[in-house]
Amino acid sequence: MLSRLGMAADLALNAPSEMLAEMRQLMALNAITDPQQHHDAQFDYLCAKASRAGFDIYNKNLMWMDEPGFWKIWKASPYWNKQRADRKFVLWSMVRSTRDLPGDTAECGVLDGASSYLVCSARRDCGPFLHHAFDSFEGLSPPEAEDQPNSPMAFRWSSGDLAVSIEEAMDKLGRFDNIRYHKGWIPSRFDEVAQLRFSFVHVDVDLYQPTRDSIEFFYPRLVPGGILLCDDYGYHTCPGARKAFDDFVANVPERSVIHLPTGQGFIVKRGRHLAED
Ligand SMILES: C[S@@+](CC[C@H](N)C(=O)[O-])C[C@H]1O[C@@H](n2cnc3c(N)ncnc32)[C@H](O)[C@@H]1O
Repeated sequence: MLSRLGMAADLALNAPSEMLAEMRQLMALNAITDPQQHHDAQFDYLCAKASRAGFDIYNKNLMWMDEPGFWKIWKASPYWNKQRADRKFVLWSMVRSTRDLPGDTAECGVLDGASSYLVCSARRDCGPFLHHAFDSFEGLSPPEAEDQPNSPMAFRWSSGDLAVSIEEAMDKLGRFDNIRYHKGWIPSRFDEVAQLRFSFVHVDVDLYQPTRDSIEFFYPRLVPGGILLCDDYGYHTCPGARKAFDDFVANVPERSVIHLPTGQGFIVKRGRHLAED
């Protein structure tokens, strides 16, 4: 006890002035008894600290953090607390917005199934549909020249990274009986769904070649109003995914990808429904 007090005294005497200022700030924060004021002061303190380090903290007044439809599903899922919720919320919200459209859903790049879980959950109260899950279930294919990041901060993918067995994905997604699994290297199994139409497609394969092949295959099969969402679009670690999406979209009526701060990018297919013709 005495030695701890000694250490504290030593620290206080020798601490640089910024450290002392920080300690005073924390003590003032802890002295606030009103829960709302404490919450707000804590938020301001953390924002200032994050900003000094070049990071940004979400606004605390955003409604998505209380959206019951999403959180009920997410917290009950096997993925709760294992992945960031913001990207999953965007995905869930987009799937909800396409729920009245005809067509199935698909995911290219499934891993252990977190996004497929949300796609299927978001549509549970709608009419019947199938969800098509495409993955090697052997991890990434070999990265190519397009996949080499420019940023020195970004790590580099290797062939076989992110390998998860199909059994693990099927186990976690076991509550959904409308999922059809297409195990294999993209695009080798796409012909199995060539006759179908899609209202929502999630592309999350990290690399140039499978992203390009997925978009080229699914875009013509997307119904008007349908959404094609690429999870990797804005990541320094996935320059190939961005190039594949940008190159493709430059030559279709949508013209450019909508880029979100979560790193996701998407398009909404233009055109009229047959019923409107
Ligand atoms: C980032 S993970 C997908 C994450 C998943 N969407 C989720 O929400 O958790 C990327 C997946 O793409 C798959 N993949 C990468 N390249 C592929 C290829 N050429 N063919 C098939 N699957 C591929 C990997 O096996 C891996 O499961």
